[in-house]
Amino acid sequence: MKIVLLTFSITGNTAHVADSISKTLSKYGHSVQLFDAVSLVKLLGLAQKVPELKHQPAPTGHEVEILSLLSAIKEADAFGVGSYVFNFFPAPGVLELLDDKWMPPELFESVKMFFTFTTHGSLPHPVGDILATCISKKNPAMLYAGNINVRVPENFVPLQPHKPYYDIWDPVEIKLMEEKIDRLRVFLSFPSSSVQFTHVDNPDVKRYISPSTMMGAPLLDKEKCKKCGLCVMKCPYNLIQISPDIEDGFPVFQRDGCYGCGRCFNSCRQEAINFTLFDSKNRSRYCGPVFPGEKRALDGKESGIEYTPIPDVDNLLKRIQFEVKP
Ligand SMILES: Cc1cc2nc3c(=O)[nH]c(=O)nc-3n(C[C@H](O)[C@H](O)[C@H](O)COP(=O)(O)O)c2cc1C
Ligand code: SF4
Ligand code: SF4
Repeated sequence: MKIVLLTFSITGNTAHVADSISKTLSKYGHSVQLFDAVSLVKLLGLAQKVPELKHQPAPTGHEVEILSLLSAIKEADAFGVGSYVFNFFPAPGVLELLDDKWMPPELFESVKMFFTFTTHGSLPHPVGDILATCISKKNPAMLYAGNINVRVPENFVPLQPHKPYYDIWDPVEIKLMEEKIDRLRVFLSFPSSSVQFTHVDNPDVKRYISPSTMMGAPLLDKEKCKKCGLCVMKCPYNLIQISPDIEDGFPVFQRDGCYGCGRCFNSCRQEAINFTLFDSKNRSRYCGPVFPGEKRALDGKESGIEYTPIPDVDNLLKRIQFEVKP
């Protein structure tokens, strides 16, 4: 069976779920193709709040990726779409990418089954239902194999722990994830009737509250910045520019359009990016999933102390510690 997985992941949690699905299904003889929705959102200039940026030249190299995604869907027997949960919604850009404008229903004529997968920090959410509603409309004959929802460490900057702590994945959730993936595998081989989901028609993406209104926008520490350009590559919404002709070659942030996803903050190895409205300097950076017993730790260095998986609500509130500046 040919299976296509499209994943929006900013710090690697949802990508890890996609990889785990892919490994299991490949082991059972399926052919799985993985596509990165972040690079496509960036390429197509989706979810941009600053209209003039829409027409910036797109980064090169991804044109082939969108074309190969579209032709892979056309040939696929099953389609899976995954997103991290962003304020109870799919990440900005995901629904826009799934819109008929880019993914017309004709593409799904031969697709027999679909499924969704989500990762989230602490709260229940309707993102599986939102994605399922959107995909089911492409071809109502497709069977829904269900949502694989995994509760994982928070990558929302104000909820990331203070140094030297870092969050690891909960072994209980890892086991649950594996069981859900196995159920998906069985469903794909022996499809039964569609898994039920709640239809969420016309989710109001305008309700996206920008976390940056709580956190402030990213601010550069020029003393630390090495002008490497990684943050430019990482921002899903084309909000960071770097050029030898502007600002002495330092990256320039278009702060008005920022969603506060924290991808630039988390990826800068120099810790040169901070958010202005709270003490982000002493937060650990979420550099991708870490599992129990794994040596990899905080900020890519072999240091730091493991937090027990997912703190309870009281601890989460303690983590926030906003220091709103006058
Ligand atoms: C801006 C932002 C908003 C978030 N909103 C929620 C939320 O509403 N509910 C939740 O449980 N987790 C929320 N999270 C946590 C992420 O969904 C979670 O850490 C996810 O696994 C990140 O996946 P990724 O590593 O694939 O990017 C949010 C994270 C960010 C950065
Ligand atoms: S990733 Fe960090 S060091 Fe590199 S250009 Fe961006 S801010 Fe500077
Ligand atoms: S937090 Fe950084 S990566 Fe995310 S939207 Fe804002 S500028 Fe872009």
